[in-house]
Amino acid sequence: MLDTASNRPAVPPEIARRRTFAIISHPDAGKTTLTEKFLLYGGAIQMAGQVRAKGEARRTRSDFMQMEKDRGISVSASAMSFDYGNFRFNLVDTPGHSDFSEDTYRTLTAVDAAVMVIDGAKGVESQTQKLFEVCRLRDLPILTFCNKMDRESRDTFEIIDEIQEMLAIDVTPASWPIGQGRDFIGCYDILRDRLELMDRADRNKIAESIKIEGLDDPKLAEHVPAHLLDQLMEELEMARELLPKLDPQAVLEGHMTPIWFGSAINSFGVKELMDGIGTYGPEPQPQQASPRQILPEETKVAGFVFKVQANMDPKHRDRVAFVRLASGHFKRGMKLLHVRSKKPMAVSNPVLFLASDRELAEEGWAGDIIGIPNHGQLRIGDTLTEGEALRVTGIPSFAPELLQTVRAGDPMKAKHLEKALMQFAEEGAAKVFKPSIGSGFIVGVVGALQFEVLASRIEMEYGLPVRFEPSQFTSARWVSGDKLAVDKFVNANKQHIAHDHDGDIVYLTRLQWDIDRIERDYPDLTLSATKEMMV
Ligand code: G4P
Repeated sequence: MLDTASNRPAVPPEIARRRTFAIISHPDAGKTTLTEKFLLYGGAIQMAGQVRAKGEARRTRSDFMQMEKDRGISVSASAMSFDYGNFRFNLVDTPGHSDFSEDTYRTLTAVDAAVMVIDGAKGVESQTQKLFEVCRLRDLPILTFCNKMDRESRDTFEIIDEIQEMLAIDVTPASWPIGQGRDFIGCYDILRDRLELMDRADRNKIAESIKIEGLDDPKLAEHVPAHLLDQLMEELEMARELLPKLDPQAVLEGHMTPIWFGSAINSFGVKELMDGIGTYGPEPQPQQASPRQILPEETKVAGFVFKVQANMDPKHRDRVAFVRLASGHFKRGMKLLHVRSKKPMAVSNPVLFLASDRELAEEGWAGDIIGIPNHGQLRIGDTLTEGEALRVTGIPSFAPELLQTVRAGDPMKAKHLEKALMQFAEEGAAKVFKPSIGSGFIVGVVGALQFEVLASRIEMEYGLPVRFEPSQFTSARWVSGDKLAVDKFVNANKQHIAHDHDGDIVYLTRLQWDIDRIERDYPDLTLSATKEMMV
């Protein structure tokens, strides 16, 4: 059967019902609370409070190792699947708190949409903006949830204006808040003409939803106090004049975001948001790859690794590679081609985290995330197929924001250190640069906490105490361009040149001024802050 619009074969219903997305937010905006409510409505947990308890447990090492024994749980921290109505939601976690790292960015390459949570009192905050920019690189559809409306919040128009201006995206209200702060009573559902009333007394109760026949329906006045109703009418009128109407195509293209107002802790607005993800969040999308893109409906399976999590248990060096299925219907035991090594790989014990029963994955469809335990063969950016030599593209590697020199406590152990560092570089846990002059390595990370994590992992997993020390450099840029120009540049700047773990040339400096100067003096060169994962 052909889809007449695009001449593509119809996407099988099992794939079309999948919604694979991540939540992006600034710490404290309510991501955990919202996740918990998603799982609650998805039937994956029975009681509010479980996600947080798990989140805290994860931070302590002994609990983590306990959980590692049940591999399902460590996978669950990264991807959660649950059913909602006719949809299968795959929620991919973005580790976005104090240990902010590149992982977060790469996670976004594995999803088809993002839910942006903002705090109604704070608006767009720094981390939201950073993550949004990454979504924009891929034109990911974004649905916005403005949280904490039960508290004193900013004016609705002001919030919408701020998103439009700071993020340069059209915003269309899917719902409109009625009253503010203590007076907040609920929302008018603009898309479905319903009145949703929040119950402050019972945080887990789903809002009362009343069908309204247009804005002159007398039912409105029965439920909304007169002064709030006047204000609502006035604001809706203004919104109609000033704000764009919902255009589903613009949402799919990432040019417009619908915004829902709610309060995650009060379970308010969450169902409407979930319905929105079902209706406007896209089904699994084509995946960019070389030499051709991969369509989800293709009968043959293809997938790519977007994250590798090393086992925290030092006795076992195995790791779990998280694979986003890009096409087809995967079945346990399948033999797939590991395209980089050209070797077949039997995927006999994959894990699919179905939030309600953590078991081995018997099957998965395009859009799903599966965990594949392995001994280090699978690296970030790797593609698995049923035979074709396809390579997924567009998995970025970012210039680290913090650089430090690392030395082994025992200088005789330099080779061991190199091995450990290469492992972490392959995992994507850090950038490792070998300067062309001098000894030692420079390690680059995105968040300061990562140095501590690396030091303790090198000690635990390789029995090697290490010291991180300040480096003379603060920035790294990948150098590319015409070979002659690159050679000339490298010869003239030896003190600043290093190679990353793939052998690619990197320019290290402490001055933005240097970067600007080189861009001026060497017009044939490109200095880039990101690099696609080399596979
Ligand atoms: P995060 O994952 O984005 O960091 O946010 P999280 O859900 O942990 O929420 C941060 C704080 O905001 C929590 O309070 C949470 O209870 C609160 N919160 C979440 N949604 C709402 C809401 O709709 N209204 C209000 N008023 N508060 C909300 P906390 O005091 O840090 O933690 P806790 O003691 O409540 O667990």
